[in-house]
Amino acid sequence: MSLQPRVTTEFEKRFGSAPAAIVRAPGRVNLIGEHTDYNDGFVLPMAIDRAIWIALRPRADRSVLIHSLDFDQTIEFSLDEIKKESGWAEYIKGVAWSLQQADYALRGFEGVVAGDVPIAAGLSSSAAWEMAAARAFSVTSNFAWDAPKMALLGQRAENQWVGVNCGIMDQMISAAGQADHALLIDCRSLDTQAVPLPPDTVVVVLDTATRRGLVDSAYNERRAQCEAAARFFNVKALRDVSVDQFEAKASELDPLTRRRAQHVITENDRTLKAAEAMQRGDAIELGQLMQMSHMSLRDDFEVSSRELNVMVECAEYQPGCYGARMTGAGFGGCAVALVRADAAQQFSADVAAAYEAAAGIAPHVYVCTATNGAEVVMMRS
Ligand code: GLA
Repeated sequence: MSLQPRVTTEFEKRFGSAPAAIVRAPGRVNLIGEHTDYNDGFVLPMAIDRAIWIALRPRADRSVLIHSLDFDQTIEFSLDEIKKESGWAEYIKGVAWSLQQADYALRGFEGVVAGDVPIAAGLSSSAAWEMAAARAFSVTSNFAWDAPKMALLGQRAENQWVGVNCGIMDQMISAAGQADHALLIDCRSLDTQAVPLPPDTVVVVLDTATRRGLVDSAYNERRAQCEAAARFFNVKALRDVSVDQFEAKASELDPLTRRRAQHVITENDRTLKAAEAMQRGDAIELGQLMQMSHMSLRDDFEVSSRELNVMVECAEYQPGCYGARMTGAGFGGCAVALVRADAAQQFSADVAAAYEAAAGIAPHVYVCTATNGAEVVMMRS
């Protein structure tokens, strides 16, 4: 949904004139390629029609003053002395810190922010914040938008300022997404290729409405296991091991590391196949690959949860569903389904009812469209 009118009206109310610019940066859903980004592998996410919007005007000094409509709170900080605190403003401060570390000369701004990416649902609201902040600074400080560079600096803010050890997928898709397309991202080179959604299909996000505290520690543990497997194969990252190479040596690995590596190596393969299937408009194959991805995440990588499995099972039996899987880091959060467009409404209602009956929790269901990544939606000359 466009939040442009909301941030514009509020900006006028607070600052007494129309904003000089409006930027937005979206959340994301990953179609396939899970837990592959930190293995230098492939991911296939799309930017969704839920985003963080900032209406702003540059300031002559080095202050950033921003009012959040969602938190009903105003914060102000100086670019000369950014202090780590906690709360929503850390994403903006972290990005300012990261840009300045990389020698960008920043100018302050004042503005109003609002968003509709659900928080902590696994739809990358934090990456959306980071890329919206970076886009805002690119406008006020007059530098060109270089999506991979901005994604890397956003990831650095997330890793070192916010303290979450994520890969590059979320910032990259929020920075570089393309309307009506998913993006095949090579997480080593950061090359991207836009692939269209199969004709007459929609992507439905199925939020289990469960969150697990375990995510961070389990995520770091999985990363360490993947690194151990890469050492075993004597490669830089698991991206460098083909399915054949894996099968030839797999029996020498301890069973746990073997399962972790098997997920990543086969998931990379599935992701490349999924992009090819999309190029051909083959929804059936894409759906099957999503289904296989889920089983691999559930059984070999062990990052699914009871609710995610229930949701995927509820989804896959509905008419018009090509495939469904958990999406994002796991342990709660969202599943994603590929659904025939004309069945989407019925599908959404029926999955929600089936999930609620089986899990005892009311889910949130979003039929999503693929949008552009971070962009300037309005700028006064
Ligand atoms: C989280 C991280 C991403 C990625 C996914 C799993 O969303 O932020 O970098 O690792 O988990 O695919």
